Amino acid sequence: MHIINITGGKKLGGEISVSGAKNSIVGIMPAAILCDEDVNIYNVPSLSDVENLKTILEYLNVNVEIKEDYMRIIPNNMTNKPINSELSKKLRASYYFMGSLLGKYGHVEISFPGGCVIGARPIDLHLKGFKALGAKITEDGDTMIIEADELIGTNIYLDFASVGATINLMLAAVKAKGKTIIENAAKEPEIVNVATFLNNMGARISGAGTNRIKIEGVDYLHSCFHEVIPDRIEAGTFVVLGAALSDNLKVKNLIPEHINSLLEKLREMGVGLEVGPDYVIVSKPEHYNPVDIQTLVYPGFPTDLQQILASLMVLADGTSTIDETIYENRFQNLYELVKMGARIKVEGERGYIYGPTKLKGTTVMATDLRAGAALVIAGLIADGQTEIQNADYILRGYENIVEKLSNIGATIVLK
Ligand code: UD1
Repeated sequence: MHIINITGGKKLGGEISVSGAKNSIVGIMPAAILCDEDVNIYNVPSLSDVENLKTILEYLNVNVEIKEDYMRIIPNNMTNKPINSELSKKLRASYYFMGSLLGKYGHVEISFPGGCVIGARPIDLHLKGFKALGAKITEDGDTMIIEADELIGTNIYLDFASVGATINLMLAAVKAKGKTIIENAAKEPEIVNVATFLNNMGARISGAGTNRIKIEGVDYLHSCFHEVIPDRIEAGTFVVLGAALSDNLKVKNLIPEHINSLLEKLREMGVGLEVGPDYVIVSKPEHYNPVDIQTLVYPGFPTDLQQILASLMVLADGTSTIDETIYENRFQNLYELVKMGARIKVEGERGYIYGPTKLKGTTVMATDLRAGAALVIAGLIADGQTEIQNADYILRGYENIVEKLSNIGATIVLK
């Protein structure tokens, strides 16, 4: 396990660039095997989650070539094999192989996926959707066998607008016979990006980005070129960092509309923002107003960014609150902030942050990906030295984080 050491209190400035979206590429790589030819993907972030998916693809005899941010996936010689827990537990998104292998071969054998421990995170909606398409599911310990002689398009209503279930069901339905409609689909930008990728290969998907997605099954998917959208959570993380510590930090290569809910809250806090077509320039204010946020599905306030914003709320003049409505265990970062001197109370799904407090560096633990990133921000704000243990979580979702932050003036080291 890696450790990140930070010396806090340094002013940040200059420019920082956002990489391709983790939650897009982790859908796109498993989706690529649906293709019968090679696919070419640009703006691919270099992340441990991407490495882990590459390992699974190579295990399935899929050729993956990576050159900087370009990736070529060649699935021509692939074989369908069981994906054991050693492979699947490395990242949650391994569950997208359920949809893609089912769609391609009508048969998948896979262990239950891993990922960040931020709540129960069941996959019942994915499985219910596969069944509706005609699949039979057998569970043997933590292994699932999902199979179908033929997948037939149907109407699927998701009880919750789940990102994972929406993408997985698109993957399973792309080559199904006839028309599938996903009602109450999730609307996150990553879903639009994966749907566009599939359409670039010849799929017939419409309505991605709305709550009703229509998929007309096709027989063959062909070679394509595709670009991964900028990572809105990484973008939000950098903007919050600028709001805490910078004079005119330019966060570039982002789609500002994707982080509107965050930008609105930052304005409410008094943060200075200049929003351009693909950049945001952010400066710290004299004082921060406290704010209340509630996490919601897109375009509501993202659950991933509540953890990030919590580190800034510590500086606000008064009490801020966070209502976490998506996950039941996404406040682990708050307990770590307390170790750094923050005054915080957690009551069920609500967190209270009593500001302003001055954070002091100490040893803390990254308990999940965004908690880790939130602690990087806290460490940069704090006086003195912060050591973040379990830093591998952070490397799952932030490309070259140490180099990027060093370039804007942070003192940060990965060991
Ligand atoms: C995705 C993102 C994650 C983000 C989350 C919410 C990826 C790889 N990960 O996770 O970074 O935090 O969206 O924006 O894209 N649920 C069920 N049954 C299911 C599926 C989900 O009850 O079958 C529940 C989950 O337990 C959770 C909620 O629905 O409480 C949201 O889950 P979902 O939208 O599926 O998130 P993920 O795809 O896991």
